[in-house]
Amino acid sequence: MDHQPLFIYLFLLLSVTISAAGISLTIIYPFVYMKKCMIVLSLIVPFPITGAYVDPDRSIKLFVFGGSYVDTGNRDSTARSWKEPYGITDPGRPAGHFSDGQVFTEYIASRMGIKSPTPYRFRNQRPIKHGMNFAYGGTGVFDTWVAAPNMTEQIYLFEQLLQEKIYTRYDLKFSTALVSASGMDYRIYLARRGSLRVSALLHGLPLLGLDLQRIHDLGVPQVAVMGMQPLGCLPEFTRGYSYEKCNSTGNFAALYHNLLLVKKLKPESKFVVLDMYNAFMSAMKKFENKTETSELKNPLRPCCTGITSEYRCGDVENKEKKYNVCRVPKLAFFWDSFHPTQAGWDAIVSELGSSIISLF
Ligand SMILES: *[C@@H]1O[C@H](CO)[C@@H](O)[C@H](O)[C@H]1NC(C)=O
Ligand SMILES: *[C@@H]1O[C@H](CO)[C@@H](O)[C@H](O)[C@H]1NC(C)=O
Ligand SMILES: *[C@@H]1O[C@H](CO)[C@@H](O)[C@H](O)[C@H]1NC(C)=O
Repeated sequence: MDHQPLFIYLFLLLSVTISAAGISLTIIYPFVYMKKCMIVLSLIVPFPITGAYVDPDRSIKLFVFGGSYVDTGNRDSTARSWKEPYGITDPGRPAGHFSDGQVFTEYIASRMGIKSPTPYRFRNQRPIKHGMNFAYGGTGVFDTWVAAPNMTEQIYLFEQLLQEKIYTRYDLKFSTALVSASGMDYRIYLARRGSLRVSALLHGLPLLGLDLQRIHDLGVPQVAVMGMQPLGCLPEFTRGYSYEKCNSTGNFAALYHNLLLVKKLKPESKFVVLDMYNAFMSAMKKFENKTETSELKNPLRPCCTGITSEYRCGDVENKEKKYNVCRVPKLAFFWDSFHPTQAGWDAIVSELGSSIISLF
């Protein structure tokens, strides 16, 4: 993801404006919200098992929309996902993923028993029977500074394929959509308006809700949306305190986002909210013991970092690398300042457990 330092401003302003909006940041309040979130988010409606279906062209399909947590190669070669050291673990070279290896999409596809859906960019070269990935790293529900399709536009690309009969409505019968809106919009809101209020959360969610409904209306019976991860634990936010602890203000914002999202969608069978918040939290906990014995020492410290604060993972200047990569990426939870490692995603998916099972 680009222009990450802005996240820090988001934090500063969040802390100020959330309190200004009348939401008390005392110890009790976040707790009330947290509890509510956990309860509501775990209300996941089970789905019929469709795995027995055999016709290859009518097989289960996965359609993916969103940003860098789920993009598997749609961005062009100027993106850092196509530069070293991205992809160093799997496949061993840059492959358009914002990680050292596989990302969330691949774990979901694998759990569904299908191959990771082909990125839209490669739709004419690779099979499309398992669905398609329309996600572009660095994009959001709204336009961002990355010149790539926003979510509305991604859904439009999908709609066009339906109009061209590349997929029929019948093909979609056993399909699932995975939608990720992982925080880019809050960075943009902040950059454009100079502050981020609770109203920013309220501002973006209706459109996300419409996007989800539109995907469903196009014929995808089930739409899984990723809840917000604990923003305050991302290395971009924790660097300020030497990666020692998460920032509770950022985490509060993520919980509040999730609460509103669940409220907006209501627990309906067609929409499933994946509880990324608690999955990240428990997965990070699992990494505590692993990192203790590695040079990382704690799970909040990312594997790949710029040599100084001006540089980021993947930066090269005059052919000189301006970043360091940890020796054993599989011991790290975070890859760069924003994205989990392949090992991190693996653990997150394990933690999601039963909510993933309900997807197929
Ligand atoms: C979180 O970050 C904000 C902004 O940097 C800061 O004001 C606040 O004290 C931090 N909270 C914690 C618990 O560290
Ligand atoms: C998404 O992109 C399209 C095409 O560039 C643009 O017309 C539209 O306004 C954008 N939507 C949002 C919500 O930013
Ligand atoms: C970490 O290791 C300790 C001691 O072996 C163990 O008690 C604890 O449960 C482990 N923590 C996690 C999260 O696995």
